Order: sequence, then structure tokens, then C-alpha cells
Amino acid sequence: MQKIHEPVYYGDYLQLNKLLDTQHPKSKDAGNEAHDETLFIIVHQVYELWFKQILHELKSGCEIFKQKNIPESELSVINSRLERIIKIQGVLLDQLSIMETMTPMDFLEFRDLLVPASGFQSVQFREIEILMGLRTNQRKEVDREYFLGRLNQEDQTRLLDLEKEKSFLELIQDWLERMPFSFSDEFDFWGEYQGTVEDMLCGDEITIKDNQAFLDERSLQIQLANLSATRETFDSLFNEKKYKKLLDKGDRRLSQKATLNALFILLYRDQPILHMPFQILNSLMDIDENFTTWRYRHAIMAHRMLGTKIGTGGSSGHQYLKMAAENNRVFNDLFNLATFLIPRSSLPKIPESIASQMNYNYRG
Ligand code: HEM
Repeated sequence: MQKIHEPVYYGDYLQLNKLLDTQHPKSKDAGNEAHDETLFIIVHQVYELWFKQILHELKSGCEIFKQKNIPESELSVINSRLERIIKIQGVLLDQLSIMETMTPMDFLEFRDLLVPASGFQSVQFREIEILMGLRTNQRKEVDREYFLGRLNQEDQTRLLDLEKEKSFLELIQDWLERMPFSFSDEFDFWGEYQGTVEDMLCGDEITIKDNQAFLDERSLQIQLANLSATRETFDSLFNEKKYKKLLDKGDRRLSQKATLNALFILLYRDQPILHMPFQILNSLMDIDENFTTWRYRHAIMAHRMLGTKIGTGGSSGHQYLKMAAENNRVFNDLFNLATFLIPRSSLPKIPESIASQMNYNYRG
């Protein structure tokens, strides 16, 4: 039987008295209230609330991924939470246009009162970056300095403590490394795949050479050099030493084994057991892309509001923000996998014994 509880009152449940009493324009305190400061505060507060929800979803995803064996049903729970983050990001992107209803001159009415407060101090934004997989030592130097240098000691400790936890990127890596199928005694998948790629590249070389009558010497050399760079990229995928060099340089973030298994998932996404892993990798790319799009949009908005002025946090403003958008992507390795895709029709055929393990059999 259901328990009888006290009647709930809307405003009490949502603690609206507290929530709606947290907008205090600095310009009002200074005796000359700027109309648009309320919008500025509310937009930032709404962002922080959505950041809180994103963290809630990410943390639950990390908990599920920490298990050594993840049941199939929980993979779909993770994916639906990742899809929720994608929807929230849609709202976050849209909100920038509400902010842009404030003109640069309206902003100037109260901007100086905010110094040195800045988006640099959004601890939740940093927590999202860290949980996704962006570590302090992986940031560009200038970014690293701003990132920690503008925070008080308590917030710095909170972020550095969070960095000790495994991030989504690391947990995904563990999960990918554990995936069976692509490395097996019965099926030398990678050997066959490399053979197919080699045939494809030889075909490209023949096409270039067949067309050399239409190319001048310089164009021919450029095309052959590009082909050789493509060969080198494929080679680095299978050559342990070359792959490690890329990892050490920070050009790759996922281990070689995890990358190969992610590629296998992308290539054989039509196999029933790989549907959900494929959806998860796809959702992570959507999330990464949306954050990057938000960063670019925010950089353009800052340009529009400030021109070339510096930010309240002391950075070069939109220049800095553009640089951060380019450098702070987390799941680059997943995007790069498109380099290694081959036509479906050329995929090595999976032997029956392995295919049957990858299938669900319903009777009914
Ligand atoms: C008038 C509107 C805005 C302007 C002109 C603006 C400008 C800037 C600038 C110049 C920076 C670089 C740091 C600095 O020097 O202060 C920055 C950073 C940041 N801002 Fe904004 N911003 C605006 C609105 C927002 C909003 C609505 C959010 C939502 C939370 C936001 C979140 C952030 C974050 C998270 C950073 C750090 C980004 C990073 O380091 O990668 N900003 N902003």
C-alpha cells in the first residue's frame, strides 16, 4: 500500500523562494540598475543548472562503465543518458541567441562591475571537461594557467581531486579493450583487413599513374606524396612503435587496442551485438561535436560583444576562445576512425562461429 505523505506544495518542492531570490544585479547595488544585467545573470544561472544535469548524467554513465562486465541493458541506459545530454546541448546552443538580444553597449553598462569574475571560474564547466577526459596536463600552457589560476583554492582542490577519478574517455578505453571478436585464433581479422586496405591503396596508386599523362610532374609528385602519407597513417594503426609515438606526442588519446576495437565496431555496426556499442560511440562524437560548436558560437558571441577587447578574466577574449575550441576536443580519435573505413562490400567475412556469437536469436 502506498504511504500517506504530507501534501506537497509546488513552490516548496522546487524551493522557488530560494531559487528566485538569487538574481542580484551589481549595477543595482551600485545605484544605477542596468536593465539587461538580470538577463545576463539568469542566462548564466540556467546554464549552470543544465551543467548540473549533464554532470548527473555523466557521473551515472561513469558508474556503469566502472563495472568489469556491463550488462547489455545497462548499455542502453547509458546511451539514453548520453542522448539526453545531446538534447540539453541543443538548448545550450539556442540560449546563446537569447544572450545576443543584449547589445554590446547594453553590456558595457555593467561589464566593468564584474571584473575579475569570468566564465573561467565556471567550476561545473571544468568538471564536465574533466569527466569527459580533458586533463590539466593535456591543455595548452596558456589554457592551463587560466584554467587553474583564476580559481580559489577550494575550487582548485575540487577539480584536481576529480582528475584522480577515471574519466569517461578512460572508462570507454577499458571497455573497448575488453571487447572480444576482433582478436581471435579462428579469424585473423586484422591480417585480412590490412590486405584489403593494401589492395585499395595499390588501386589508388595505379589510378594516379594511369592518369599521369594528364598531370604535370609537380601534381603527380603531390598526389603520390599524399598517397604515401595515407599509407603511413594506416601503418601507424598497426605498428606498435609508431602508435606509441603518436600517443606520447598527444596526437592520440585512446590505446591502440581500444582504437582497433572501436574501428571494428564501426566497420561491423550491422552485427546485432555491436548496435549499442556503435550508438554509444556515435553519441560521444555528437556530444564532443556539440561542445565544440558551443565553444565556437560562444567565441563568436564574445567577438560580437567585445570586439578585440580582453575578457573580464584577462584572456585575449575571442582569440583565446577560438583556440580553446580547436584544442579541447576529447574524442578526436573516434572522429579520426573515418580515415580507416572501407566499403561494406570489401569487409572481410566473419566466420560463422564468430557471427553466431554476435547475433541475437529470437524464437517466436
Ligand atoms: C555577454 C556574454 C558573454 C561574453 C562577452 C563572454 C565572454 C567570455 C570571454 C572573453 C571568455 C574568456 C575568459 C575571459 O577572459 O574572461 C569567456 C570564457 C567563458 N565563458 Fe563566456 N561570455 C559570455 C557569456 C557566457 C555564457 C552565457 C556562458 C554560459 C555558461 C559562458 C561561459 C563561459 C565559459 C565556460 C568560459 C571558459 C571557456 C574556456 O576556458 O574554454 N559565457 N567568456
